[in-house]
Amino acid sequence: MIMDGNGRWARQRGQPRLAGHEAGSETVRRVLNYCRDAGVRYLTLYAFSTENWTRPEDEVSGLMALLGRFIKRYERDLIKRQVRLRVIGRRSDLSAQLRAALERVEQESAGFERQLIVALSYSGRSELVRAARLIAEKVKAGTMRPEDVDEAAVAAHLYAPDVPDPELIIRTSGEMRISNFLLWQCAYSEFYVTPVLWPDFNEQEFNAALAAYAARDRRFGGVRDKRGREDAS
Ligand code: IPE
Ligand code: IPE
Ligand code: MG
Repeated sequence: MIMDGNGRWARQRGQPRLAGHEAGSETVRRVLNYCRDAGVRYLTLYAFSTENWTRPEDEVSGLMALLGRFIKRYERDLIKRQVRLRVIGRRSDLSAQLRAALERVEQESAGFERQLIVALSYSGRSELVRAARLIAEKVKAGTMRPEDVDEAAVAAHLYAPDVPDPELIIRTSGEMRISNFLLWQCAYSEFYVTPVLWPDFNEQEFNAALAAYAARDRRFGGVRDKRGREDAS
C-alpha cells in the first residue's frame, strides 16, 4: 500500500502537512481492520522512503515523532490482534530510540502469522544494492559460487525474503508511479490507483480495490485466462 496524499489533504484544509500525516496515521488503524476482516495475511505499508529524508527538517522530525507515538500507542493492540510487525528499509537511518521501540515489537510479535510490514527509510533500489553486496561478500568468502546467483538467490537476500510478492499494490491520491517501492517484488503485482487521498481512504475504497483485483486476469506472461481456458484470440 503506497500511502500518499497526506500533504494535499492538509493543504485542502489550510492545515500544516503534519496534520495530514496525523490524519493518515488514523487511516493505518482502519486499514488494519479492513485487512483483518478480508483475511489479508500480508500488508506492506510504504511509510517513509529514503528520498523522503530530503523533505524539510520539521516535516521529517514530525513524521519520525509520529511514528514513535504510533508504535507506542498500538504496540499492545498489535499483540492482542496477533499481528507480526516487521520493518523493511535502512534501519540504521532511524533514531536509536525509534529503532529500539520497533525492534521490541518485532520480537514480541515474531510468532504471529498475520504480518504488517512497514517500509521505513525504504528504497527498492537500495534493497537490491544491498542484496548484491551480501551476495558478493559470500562469493568473495567462497561460500557461494557465481553460478549459484539466480533469481532465488537474489530474492533470498531481500529484507524480508519469506514474504510473498504482493498480489495487489494500492496507491492513493492518483499518482501513477511506483516511487521506488518493492521494485523486485512488484514484477507481477496488480496495480490499483485511487484518486482518494490517504487520510480519506475508507472501507468502501478498500473493497473497491479488492473487487477490481478479483476481476483482473493475471496471466503472468502466459495466455490462459483466469478460468483456465486458452485465450482464443
Ligand atoms: C504520504 O503523503 C506520506 C509520506 C510520503 C510520508 P505525502 O506527504 O507524500 O503527501 P502529498 O503527496 O504531498 O500530498
Ligand atoms: C511515496 O510517496 C513514498 C511513500 C508513500 C512513503 P511520495 O510522495 O514520497 O512519492 P512521490 O514523491 O510522489 O513520487
Ligand atoms: Mg506524496
